[in-house]
Amino acid sequence: MGLELKPEEQEMLEGKHGKAARKAMEIITTLGEIYGAKRLIPVSSVQIAGVSYDNLGEAGLEYLSEMAEDGQTRVLTTLNPAGMDMLEWKKHGIREDFAKNQQRVVDAFEKMGVVTTCTCTPYLIGNLPHYGEHIAWAESSAVCFANSVIGAFTNREGGPSALAAALTGVTAEYGLHLEENRIAQVKYEIHADLKNTDDFGLLGQVIGKRTGKTIPYIVGIKNATTEHLKSFSASIATYGGVAIFHMEGVTPNRTTIPDVVEVVTDDDLRTARTELDDEEAEIDFISVGCPHASIKEIAEIASILDGKTVAEGKTVWITTAKPTKDLAMKMGYYDKIERAGAFLVADACCAVAPLKGRFTGLMTDSAKACFYARGKNKFKTEIRTVEECIREAIS
Ligand code: F3S
Repeated sequence: MGLELKPEEQEMLEGKHGKAARKAMEIITTLGEIYGAKRLIPVSSVQIAGVSYDNLGEAGLEYLSEMAEDGQTRVLTTLNPAGMDMLEWKKHGIREDFAKNQQRVVDAFEKMGVVTTCTCTPYLIGNLPHYGEHIAWAESSAVCFANSVIGAFTNREGGPSALAAALTGVTAEYGLHLEENRIAQVKYEIHADLKNTDDFGLLGQVIGKRTGKTIPYIVGIKNATTEHLKSFSASIATYGGVAIFHMEGVTPNRTTIPDVVEVVTDDDLRTARTELDDEEAEIDFISVGCPHASIKEIAEIASILDGKTVAEGKTVWITTAKPTKDLAMKMGYYDKIERAGAFLVADACCAVAPLKGRFTGLMTDSAKACFYARGKNKFKTEIRTVEECIREAIS
C-alpha cells in the first residue's frame, strides 16, 4: 500500500492552499514514496539549514523568493547559521555585496513567517521540542542532539525538505520517526578521561569514524554537560553521519543493548587529536562556538578576556545565537569580549561565513569546525580547550 494522504494534505498537493504549499507537499510526498512511508505525520518544530548565501547562491535565493510569494509556515521554524552577523557584519570584514544578498535570503524566510534567528543550537533559544515529539530539523549537530539528548524524533532534513515541512506542518513517517530504526547496534565502552568540549568532540570523531551509520550505545561517561553533548553531537554526526546515539545514564531513549562491543581509550583520543593538529599551523584565527556557544560558555570566555588584548595578527570569533548575544550584552560579557578585540558574532559561524582566503590557521575546541576549516576553507587546524584557545588569542 502506498502513501495515504488526509483530505487537507491531498488539497495541498492539488494546489488548493497555494503554489508554495503544493510544491512543498510534492517534496514531502516524493520523499515519502521513495522511503516507503505509509502516511504523513504532523511536526511541531522545524529548523532549516542552507541559509548562508555562500552555500545557496543565486539559484537557491531564487527558489526561496518563489516559495515566499505565497508560502506561510504552519509551525515554529528557525534557521541554521547564515554567512554573517546580520547586524555587525561590517566590522567582521564581510563584503557589502555578500551582505546584501544574505539579507535578501533572510528576508525571504521572514516573509514566510520563519523566526529569523540563525543558529545550530535552536534548543538553547526556545525552539526546544520534548521527548517523543516529531520534528523536522536539518542541521546535522542539532538533529543528533534532538534525537539523542532530547529524545525528539527527526530525520536529517535537507534545506528544501525542512522548508517543505514548515509550509505544510507535516513530514513523511520513515527513518528515525519510527521506533524500530532508533535501536542501538554497537556498544562502545569508553575507557578515557573526558574533561572538556574538545575531548567530547574527539570522542565523537573516534566513534563517528568507527561506527559510520550504525547506531552507537555508549557506556562509561559519568558526567556530560549540555556543552559537552552539543560538541559530541556535532562531531559524531560530522565524522560518522550518524543522526542518533544512546549514552547510558545520560540520554533518555529506550533501546536494547547491543552484543557487539568496541572499546575507546585515551590512546584513541590522542590519535584523533594528532590527526586534527597540523604541525605547521600558523594560528591567525581562533573560533569558539561550534555548535553555537551557550551563555555559560560566553560568560567563561568573557572572564578570561576581561582586561586583556587580542594579539596583533589574530582574529577571534565567538559564535552564538542572536538571543544569546543579546543576553551577553545585557550581562556585560559582550563588552568584555569586544573591548579585548575579540568578536561576539551572532547568526553565523566559521564554517558557513565566506572566510576562504582570509586566514591560514584555525584554533578551535570543535572537532567539527576543524573538519570544515580544512575541507571548505583550506585552513590548517589545531584543537584545544576553550581556555587554551582564548589564551592563544591573547598571547
Ligand atoms: Fe553550527 Fe557552524 Fe558548527 S552550523 S555546528 S557552528 S559548523
